[in-house]
Amino acid sequence: MLTERLNCIINYVNNETVADIGTDHGYVATELIRRGQAKRVIAADVRQGPLNAAIENINKYGMGDVIETRLGSGLSVIKPYESDLAVIAGMGGELIIEIIKADIETARSMELVLQPMNAQYELRLFLIENGFMIEKEDIVCEGNRVYNVMIVKNGHMEKFEKEIYYHIPKYLENNPKFYMLFNKKKREFEKIVKGLKNSNNTDIERLEYYSSLLSEMEEYSI
Ligand SMILES: C[S@@+](CC[C@H](N)C(=O)[O-])C[C@H]1O[C@@H](n2cnc3c(N)ncnc32)[C@H](O)[C@@H]1O
Repeated sequence: MLTERLNCIINYVNNETVADIGTDHGYVATELIRRGQAKRVIAADVRQGPLNAAIENINKYGMGDVIETRLGSGLSVIKPYESDLAVIAGMGGELIIEIIKADIETARSMELVLQPMNAQYELRLFLIENGFMIEKEDIVCEGNRVYNVMIVKNGHMEKFEKEIYYHIPKYLENNPKFYMLFNKKKREFEKIVKGLKNSNNTDIERLEYYSSLLSEMEEYSI
């Protein structure tokens, strides 16, 4: 059975040609075809091992005619406008930024479904500062784990009014899972503040930054 995380990602896809970047086992690629949410998938990975696992899975379902596998880094394996949408999921936020930066014109030519495992703040900041808009964002939870799924397109987005919104977007406030994200971030910031306060050589700037995030968090209606 597909995990909640992958299920959520797949629910945001309904396109003719989809690129699954960092396909690994190929679950996203095969499930998209099985559900009819893509007609053709390009399943790519930078490493041969995961790509072989994907090939095995694709062959198991007899989907070799509609899923093409490609070996290579990020979006370099896709030509601009070759694909309508790219899923880049299950990777660190900094790696996702590097992948977009490396082939920015290809990234601009399609919709992106991004699911960073960390560095969500950095990714949102990068997208907004580099002419991408976060059209929608969702929260998905598996036990205590909280994931963010971002639907991104080329386009202008106003900078967020407050620093805290890059960590906890205001537009997520009405999401039923918002409290999970909010509590996770609160614990994370409180831990950092506590650690800094207990340190012999406190980084005052960092302490002030995280303390101000905690006070900005009081404005959310939760
Ligand atoms: C943890 S798996 C995620 C698999 C799947 N996308 C998911 O969300 O479950 C990360 C995959 O990304 C691949 N990967 C890492 N860096 C990459 C890059 N620059 N380009 C393409 N694939 C990459 C890894 O080889 C690995 O198979």
